[in-house]
Amino acid sequence: MSEIIIKKAKKLQGAPKMPGDKSISHRAAILSLLCAERVTIENYSPAADCKSTLNAVKQLGAGVKEENGKVVISPPLGGGIIEPESPIDCGNSGTTMRLLAGLLAGADINATLTGDESLSKRPMKRIIEPLKLMNAEIAGSEEGTAPLSIQPATLVPIDYTMPVASAQVKSAILLAGASARTKVTVREKIIARDHTERMLQSLGADLQVDTVKPEVVDDPDDPRKKIRKLPTEKYKAAITLDVGGKLSGGEIIVPGDFSTAAFFIGAALMIRGSHLILKDVGVNNTRTGFLTVLKQMGAEIELKNRRDIGNEPVADIEVVHSKLKPRKISGDIIPKLIDEIPILALIAASLDGTTVIRDAEELRVKECDRIHAIAENLMRMGVKVGEFPDGLAIEGHGELEGAEIDTFGDHRIAMAFGAAGLAAHGGVKISDAEVVDISCPGYFSLLEGLRA
Ligand code: S3P
Repeated sequence: MSEIIIKKAKKLQGAPKMPGDKSISHRAAILSLLCAERVTIENYSPAADCKSTLNAVKQLGAGVKEENGKVVISPPLGGGIIEPESPIDCGNSGTTMRLLAGLLAGADINATLTGDESLSKRPMKRIIEPLKLMNAEIAGSEEGTAPLSIQPATLVPIDYTMPVASAQVKSAILLAGASARTKVTVREKIIARDHTERMLQSLGADLQVDTVKPEVVDDPDDPRKKIRKLPTEKYKAAITLDVGGKLSGGEIIVPGDFSTAAFFIGAALMIRGSHLILKDVGVNNTRTGFLTVLKQMGAEIELKNRRDIGNEPVADIEVVHSKLKPRKISGDIIPKLIDEIPILALIAASLDGTTVIRDAEELRVKECDRIHAIAENLMRMGVKVGEFPDGLAIEGHGELEGAEIDTFGDHRIAMAFGAAGLAAHGGVKISDAEVVDISCPGYFSLLEGLRA
């Protein structure tokens, strides 16, 4: 275990390069198993989670090599996915396990998916249930956790309304449909990240997204006025996928990881005089709820040089330290900033006043119970904090005290509190600094390189 001490910084300046997006990298590697031709992936994430996915893809028969810094994945010889000889280890990665479970459920093979201690505790019923409705032969432990065992089955079409907002569940169903070539419709009450849909479309799949928009109608109380009426449908988007054959291959360029950029944005906002530019970062609006909330709190953040790379929006993010005001964060925006809540909590803790975060019960079933981990470590940093089943109340008093952090083995807890160390009197000490490798190897050097 490697220990790191992060001391208070005067200010931060620079333009650190963000690694490739983790979510998009997973999808690029997994979808290449369904392609007729090879897929070349530029800027593939160096995250340990994405290495787990590459190893899995190899075990399923694909050729994986590096060429000029790009990852090149060739389809399995003979075209079909090959039955793995041993269990596939998904490591710490929920995305690897849930997306692969969907794809393998429709692949007509036997396979077992395992994970580390944290992943083995995370809920898998959320994918087992819809996949079983498709006739899949998939089973987990009695508690509905990994290991997952999958057997050959003939899948049937499904029209499924999601009970939780989860891109992993949505993607598992879409991938089951794509590998079994069975029509699927997934309805979302709250829209989760849509990278799978975008990538399927760019690889030539017949995928349609119907979004339900609010109606503009006469105001019953004042006929001179119009009001926006919420739709009667119980969902906001319906995604229909009907894959008839192989997807095309080609080149995928992975944008910089917004969720990693968030820690740098947070650090700049916490430290007076800071100014950072984060270039070529993915700014898909199903991911950028963090920016929406920060702007509402008064942050000076600008998106420059906006463009599309492949089928994903990208921009350079410029952030200047700003005086922020606390506000309540809840409702439909939560899935759009779920991975950014640890750093958002620290920004909140460094302000004067109370920030309340609700509707974020999903945080309890991430790599650790993030609500508890945030509360425990904020208290260590001298902040008053209350836990709700679905969130936190953080009473900031304008200052963070130095502390020894318990990461609970979770990369995002280590990254958020590491960034906060730069703003805390007395800094922070983290004894298992290597946990950041799960999403961003080299994170602490990148942070240290920004001291001005
Ligand atoms: C992810 C989806 C989210 C997110 C996770 C990555 C993905 O999880 O928290 O870090 O790549 O699809 P859920 O689908 O469980 O919300």
